[in-house]
Amino acid sequence: MSKAKPTVVLTDPFIPEVIERELKPRAQVLIARDRKHLEKLIAGADALITRFSDRVDEALLAKAPRLRAIGNFAVGFDNIDFKACARRGIRVTNTPDVLTRATAELTLALLLACARRLPEGEALCRRGRFGGWDPRMLLGLELKGRRAVIVGRGRIGGETARLFRGIGLKVEFITREDSAAAVRTKLRRAQVLSLHVPLSAATRHWLDARKLALLPRDAIVLNTTRGPVVDEQALIRALSAKPQSRRIFAAGLDVYEREPEIPAALRKLPNTVLLPHLGSATHEARTAMARLAVSGVLALLGGGRPSNEVRFPR
Ligand code: DGY
Repeated sequence: MSKAKPTVVLTDPFIPEVIERELKPRAQVLIARDRKHLEKLIAGADALITRFSDRVDEALLAKAPRLRAIGNFAVGFDNIDFKACARRGIRVTNTPDVLTRATAELTLALLLACARRLPEGEALCRRGRFGGWDPRMLLGLELKGRRAVIVGRGRIGGETARLFRGIGLKVEFITREDSAAAVRTKLRRAQVLSLHVPLSAATRHWLDARKLALLPRDAIVLNTTRGPVVDEQALIRALSAKPQSRRIFAAGLDVYEREPEIPAALRKLPNTVLLPHLGSATHEARTAMARLAVSGVLALLGGGRPSNEVRFPR
């Protein structure tokens, strides 16, 4: 008698051709339409594949007596209550490495767009306001020789540093090992500040009003990690549209504190480049993420130890 296929619940169709080819032959696949539907389907699930925006908490897990494996379709896993998973013996995978390059490239794109005021130039052309070349129009910053400070020395921080060095920036890192005084010194010279730390209790509002006040006036802040790492209201104040009260030059943001909400005050600021969480949005990265999420949960269900299993943070 053939063994019954495990039931894997997905919170999104993700990359359908990967699901079709690599998951459906080995599992019964159910796709939840919304949270309520997920709470219903999870009762019969052996595994779950989630987006980073799906909260996996005690309340959800209490409805999932059979659940053994979770594949988070993201490298970040701040959406998952690890203590609750550990208590229930549920193992979790994420999608590291495969999105490192895509996210670093997007960070570089944000930097160039901020420094050369690309959205302002683009909007001007689209609105039919380009009235001819002007020697004083939309002057930006040249990046060669400027100092970039990267917060976090993980995979994405490291790859971003390589790309930044490639265009002539001088790069240094802020890491957990730095003393508060060393952090302050580095922030004072950070003409580019790029955030690459995961969201945790320790990094929530890491970039606050006090740290923003240390940055030089020509600083560009970049956030492609998680919105709550930055105190968004403090950032809005630092970017103030009035040049006399403006603390920093610009910000390039791919993530927001209460995503998908983007505060109107932020949307109004001309010196921001705002993207809808596109860090890993390349065909290459998303296909590889889907494959890794699928292979991870299948390995966990088979009792294996996939290399992308997350070690529970203590
Ligand atoms: C992640 O992987 O953590 C992203 O935010 C989504 O690609």
